Amino acid sequence: MKLSNFVSGLPKVELHVHVEGTLEPELKFALAKRNGITLAEPTPAQVRQSYNFTDLTSFLQAYYDGMNVLLTEADFYDLALSYLQKAAGQNVRYVEMFFDPQAHTSRGVSFHTVIRGIHRAQVDAEAKWGIVSTLIMCFLRDFQVEYAMATLLESLPYAQWILGVGLDSDENNHPPADFSTVFARARQEGYLLTAHCDVDMPNSIEHINQVVNQIGAYRIDHGTNVVEDPALVRQLADSNIGLTSCPISNSWISQTAKVEEIIQLTSSGVKVSINSDDPAYFGGYIAENYQLLEDSGLDHSFLADRSRDAVAMSWASPTLKRQILDEIDEYCA
Ligand code: HPA
Ligand code: ZN
Repeated sequence: MKLSNFVSGLPKVELHVHVEGTLEPELKFALAKRNGITLAEPTPAQVRQSYNFTDLTSFLQAYYDGMNVLLTEADFYDLALSYLQKAAGQNVRYVEMFFDPQAHTSRGVSFHTVIRGIHRAQVDAEAKWGIVSTLIMCFLRDFQVEYAMATLLESLPYAQWILGVGLDSDENNHPPADFSTVFARARQEGYLLTAHCDVDMPNSIEHINQVVNQIGAYRIDHGTNVVEDPALVRQLADSNIGLTSCPISNSWISQTAKVEEIIQLTSSGVKVSINSDDPAYFGGYIAENYQLLEDSGLDHSFLADRSRDAVAMSWASPTLKRQILDEIDEYCA
């Protein structure tokens, strides 16, 4: 996808990227080699060709399968550093990265290994490229609530490196309300709250309602199905609960990129940010997601407003928010 000058240069904030979803096939091969693992496909190109998801479940199979090469602190360091370099190159100023500790602890890789590797990369990336980043720890909703709670407790010694918690993985038959006690405890511990409500799930509206009214999250990841319920749309607008939308991801997981929904929601006063989700699997980083909007006929002021929404919805310091907003204004002037 060819990027326009406007999209390339726009100062950006990324709020919905799974660091494990940034594992490019080339890095997957390098890590497999380093760890003495033989992969099913013989080349990175063939790995890429094997990605043909039709829904969330088929995507998640490839996503978890890819993680098997991540074993050591150096592997997590290399993963996060290469993502942050890529993001900085797309003029991302600030990123809140999801990570899935249970996808690793369930394979015998320690929480410490995962977070130390990612954290060291964050420190080095900020020093090298000026990109500021923080972490959101996601609970896997298809594992037991007790495992999520144990993971929350395990994270507490590293709480200064983690800004918030989220909820991801397979949403089918796994309503957010199942995790209310875990989110309540996370809030008590000082974590900020968000949760995935994936597109076109069987109970999308009920799940969005639970995230807003039972969990009390400050944002929703995806969540564009809210358009089906005008009262809930009004509640999001009035309570300033924004959506982190991922158009390219949507086009794999569902029938469309949800551009019409994004337009409708923003005109109703709901904040919507544009994000990449799992760029190595869906074939587009944040700039390509903005480009999809431009290619759909949306103008530069619409794109700049999405970047302003991302700043406003972010959990960055007031000073950093002001600085990025000023940069966006200057860029657009
Ligand atoms: N939805 C649910 N789980 C995920 C996703 C997503 O978009 N990406 C990585 N894990
Ligand atoms: Zn996601």
